[in-house]
Amino acid sequence: MNDAPSGDTLTVRDNRTGQEYEIAITDNTIRAGDLSQIKTDDDTPGLATYDPGFTNTASCRSSVTYIDGEKGILEYRGYPIEQLAEQSSFLEVAYLLVNGTLPSKTEYEQWVHDVTYHTFVHENVKSFMQGFRYDGHPMGMLEASVGALSTFYPESANISDPDNRYIQIVRMIAKMPTLGAWAFRHGQGKPYVYPDNDLSYTANFLSMLFKMSEQKYEPDERLVNALDVLLILHADHEQNCSTNAVRSVGSSQVDPYSAVAAGIGALYGPLHGGANEAVLRMLRRIGSKEEIPDFIKGVKDGNERLMGFGHRVYKNYDPRAKIIKKACDDVFEVTGVNPLLEIAQELEKIALEDEYFIKRKLYPNVDFYSGLIYEAFQFPPEMFTVLFAIGRTPGWLAQWLEMVQDKDQKIARPKQIYTGDRGLEFTPASQRWGQ
Ligand SMILES: CC(C)(COP(=O)(O)OP(=O)(O)OC[C@H]1O[C@@H](n2cnc3c(N)ncnc32)[C@H](O)[C@@H]1OP(=O)(O)O)[C@@H](O)C(=O)NCCC(=O)NCCS
Repeated sequence: MNDAPSGDTLTVRDNRTGQEYEIAITDNTIRAGDLSQIKTDDDTPGLATYDPGFTNTASCRSSVTYIDGEKGILEYRGYPIEQLAEQSSFLEVAYLLVNGTLPSKTEYEQWVHDVTYHTFVHENVKSFMQGFRYDGHPMGMLEASVGALSTFYPESANISDPDNRYIQIVRMIAKMPTLGAWAFRHGQGKPYVYPDNDLSYTANFLSMLFKMSEQKYEPDERLVNALDVLLILHADHEQNCSTNAVRSVGSSQVDPYSAVAAGIGALYGPLHGGANEAVLRMLRRIGSKEEIPDFIKGVKDGNERLMGFGHRVYKNYDPRAKIIKKACDDVFEVTGVNPLLEIAQELEKIALEDEYFIKRKLYPNVDFYSGLIYEAFQFPPEMFTVLFAIGRTPGWLAQWLEMVQDKDQKIARPKQIYTGDRGLEFTPASQRWGQ
């Protein structure tokens, strides 16, 4: 038996050797490194864990976001998402995520001023945006242009300086809507619209997306508020795939633009950011309320999945889905009802009463209604993930900031279980192929 740690412990008996080990339990976890003392002899490596996809591995300690999937709870820095969505604004939530506390009036005004001041991008960004193919995916354009920002701000590599970190965080939150809107306009063959700093963060984003020949673009406040709420709902979600990518790439101590570009790359993938588009395709295919029972039968027979239902973490109603459902009403009041909404609502009702979904704890997730709203704004489906990325930026940055200041963090470098050949004899190509 090894020296017993104090506090809660786990006793492990290695049946290969009969030896017992006592391992400390802290925060309901054990340190993977503590398992490495478990060996059959001094010449073999110690025991490790195998966990592809990190399904049961905590990769960090974090105070940014709390989720209780069983109870359907989501909190940013301790504040319930419902209260933030109803009473806060995206920029205030961004401040909260990045700084850890709500701002005073002066702090908030300074923050809004700083973010607003940095909405413009260097003119050269326009030239390389113009270089993308007319039908390039806007998410690819966003990923590339955010990565490229590191070349405009080489000082961003100095990640140990707090003032420098602050300015890069502000720049990224400020410029993301400009880049996203320009990627959108590029695809439409429309001229890029410069930021209008008289408008709020979200109103300015809408202006850069939709302004045409009018002197000043004045979006409907209900649309501004609904989009602001959607951005808040997407602002962070603890250690998801893209946040893990930001942390993992950032752990090499690269500049934050490169780290966030990696997060955008992860979000681009269909398993992460693409489900709301799949929901729209599904609703269109169902076509009418009368077809729902047939569709549900197909799902229960295992032919397909009910998209927008179920979640790896939430085994209850996704709290974000409830809020989005409410936002639908505001948006449709302005744009007119999306006919797919009726099918979605009926589908939800039937599924929530069905034994198959109840037994498996399958509830609507954030994507079930968000696509319908985005469509009402007249966003093409490929813009959905760009909107997600703009919302997620403060979360990525808050997590990056926490990571670079965390003494426990090391460069991300997982172990592997090697399954290949060993010690083969190399034969030069000239001999293998014959002369
Ligand atoms: C999100 C998702 C990938 C989570 O998957 P998971 O946690 O790995 O859950 P599993 O795939 O193990 O599913 C558990 C059970 O529920 C079923 N299930 C899960 N989601 C389902 C869905 N949307 N429709 C029908 N059945 C579903 C599975 O078939 C499985 O049933 P079984 O036990 O009889 O085999 C999954 O629910 C899904 O594919 N949902 C649809 C896509 C979606 O909306 N994604 C966005 C997430 S924000």
